[in-house]
Amino acid sequence: MTKQRRIVLGVTGGVAAYKAAELTRLMVKAGWQVDVVLTEAGAQFVGPVTFQALSGRPVYTQLWSPDVSNGMAHIQLTRGADALLVAPATADLIAKAALGLADDLLSTLISARDCPLLIAPAMNRQMWENAPNLRNIAQLESDGVAILGPDAGDQACGEVGLGRMLEPEELMLHLEASFQPKPLAGRRVLLTAGPTFERIDAVRGITNSSSGKMGFAIARAAWEAGAEVTIIAGETAQVTPPGCRRIDVLSAQEMLGAVESEVDDTDIFIAVAAVADYYVLNPSEQKIKKDAHILTLELAPNPDILARVATRDKPPFCVGFAAESENLLEYAEAKRKRKHLPLLAANLVQNAIGADDNEVILLDDSGETRLPHGPKLDVARKLIAHVAQLYGKGKTK
Ligand code: C5P
Repeated sequence: MTKQRRIVLGVTGGVAAYKAAELTRLMVKAGWQVDVVLTEAGAQFVGPVTFQALSGRPVYTQLWSPDVSNGMAHIQLTRGADALLVAPATADLIAKAALGLADDLLSTLISARDCPLLIAPAMNRQMWENAPNLRNIAQLESDGVAILGPDAGDQACGEVGLGRMLEPEELMLHLEASFQPKPLAGRRVLLTAGPTFERIDAVRGITNSSSGKMGFAIARAAWEAGAEVTIIAGETAQVTPPGCRRIDVLSAQEMLGAVESEVDDTDIFIAVAAVADYYVLNPSEQKIKKDAHILTLELAPNPDILARVATRDKPPFCVGFAAESENLLEYAEAKRKRKHLPLLAANLVQNAIGADDNEVILLDDSGETRLPHGPKLDVARKLIAHVAQLYGKGKTK
């Protein structure tokens, strides 16, 4: 059993406080314990009863609360907490936090915390760009506080620009990331993911059923581990994890082009894409008309993107995937050797393609490591931990 996460959620006086109610619901749904602290202005937007109903816990609004056994809510609440998140955070709260002011419960909690602090600003675009606010943000960042957002877009005041609070789902991703170790901090990870699409004519093509789920889960896990991540993605409906750069491509040739233009400063290259083995030699510009004759397509082999990267002069640490339908270990190890890979993740196609779960065996020079069957994100986090360990060893040689 993993320990239950405990979060302190500070809500200040911005209209985005209504989104903090949804955020509380998401945290409770994730099985976390949430203690909500409302500032006086926050309570003007959404009342404590809403947060109490959603969190199933008392809501704190005052520095001097007789409900807390020793009257020390400002110290007690963050003890043993995994994170203190302020969402939404006004310019006023940000200024107080940057200065270390402590004149209400939330600002005092921030000063007396012993857990990581994450701040999700929400304000009018001009307040955001106000020089003192940007100075305060820079100060907090250099103090090690995580600033989440803000986003650009329509604002409640009718203006458009930077200052919107991140959506609750995205804040959840940042919180979960804050719980993960950072063995890849400062590393650059390049990833291919999803299927490729080889054009036959103006409307048709050859593709495969790769969903991109595993590749995007690995991208997220690498970002959570502190890496700077670029995803070269074939056509997929997957949502880009926060903090990851995404370059969309269609064909294997395009994927190779994108990889080659990105790979130079890469520390780790992970090829998860299901790349078509062949492309159509002479795709038609126009839609091919149907007639009674047999249609023959001429196919030529695609370049092996991973093998090309792995055989460069100074290759990044390369990780390949092998989806096999039989003789998994034998075929996978042969593939690892043939492509000169320090690490290969092998899985059965029957288990992997399109599914939400996966079961992966890692093959490297010291043998095989079986990762437990589980959701693709869990598998991805374990894979990234293994990559980080092998990469770290290589660096210290
Ligand atoms: O040879 P096979 O296609 O089974 O190899 C799978 C591994 O090689 C995967 O990591 C895949 O992303 C990569 N690959 C590639 N370019 C290709 C074919 C496969 O990068 N043309």
